[in-house]
Amino acid sequence: MPSSIDPQRLHAFPRAWMTGARLLFAAGALATAAQVRSAAPVAVSPTIDTTGLAALPVPWPAENPYRGDPLAARVGQDAFNQACARCHGPDADGSRAPAPDLRRLGRSCKRVSDADLKRRCIQDVDAYFRASVLKGKVKVGVVHMPAWDGILKPELVWAIRTFVETPAVTPAGAANAIPTHTSR
Ligand code: HEC
Repeated sequence: MPSSIDPQRLHAFPRAWMTGARLLFAAGALATAAQVRSAAPVAVSPTIDTTGLAALPVPWPAENPYRGDPLAARVGQDAFNQACARCHGPDADGSRAPAPDLRRLGRSCKRVSDADLKRRCIQDVDAYFRASVLKGKVKVGVVHMPAWDGILKPELVWAIRTFVETPAVTPAGAANAIPTHTSR
C-alpha cells in the first residue's frame, strides 16, 4: 500500500468529479434542447424498388389502388421501415412509438355494416392519410412530421397505406402474416 496518498485528497476526488460530471450533463442537456428547437425533422426518400407495382396515372388516384395486394404490402413495409419507422415504430408497431399508430387509422370503418357507407368511410381515411403524408404535420410552427410531397412516390404512399392496413405479423406466424422481405 503506498503511504503517500493523502486521505483528504482521496475524499475530495469523487466530489470534484461529480461536479464536473454535473456540469457536463447540464451542458449536454442544453445542447440537446437547442437541437430539438432548431433541427426540424427532414423527409428522406426511401430507396425502394417498386417493380411489379402498377404505375399510377397523373393525377394519382385519391383512393388506394393496391388495397389487399400482398406485393404492395411488402414493398410498403420496406418503405415504411426506411422512411416512417423512426417515428411511427418499426413495422408500424406503434405501441411504444412517439408518433400515432398508423394501423389504427380506419379501424372504425370495419364496424360500418352498410357497404356504400363503408366504402365512403375508407375513402375518407385514404384522403386523410394522403393529405397527412403529403403536407406533413406542422403545428404552431413546430414540424411534428415533415411533408413528403415530391419525396415519396405516389406508388409508395399507397403501398405504405396497404402495409398498415394489412394484419400485422404475429409472433406465432399467422396465416395472413406478411412474409419477411429484405431483398428489395
Ligand atoms: C419525424 C417523425 C415522423 C416521421 C419520419 C413520419 N411521421 Fe407521420 N407523424 C408524426 C407525428 C408526430 C404525427 C402526429 C402529428 C400530429 O397529429 O400532430 C404523425 C402523423 C401521421 C399521420 C396521421 C396519423 C393520425 O392518426 O392522425 C399519418 C397518416 C402519418 N403520420 C404517416 C406517415 C408516413 C406514411 C410516414 C413515412 C413516409 C411518416 N408519417 C413519417 C411523425 C413522423
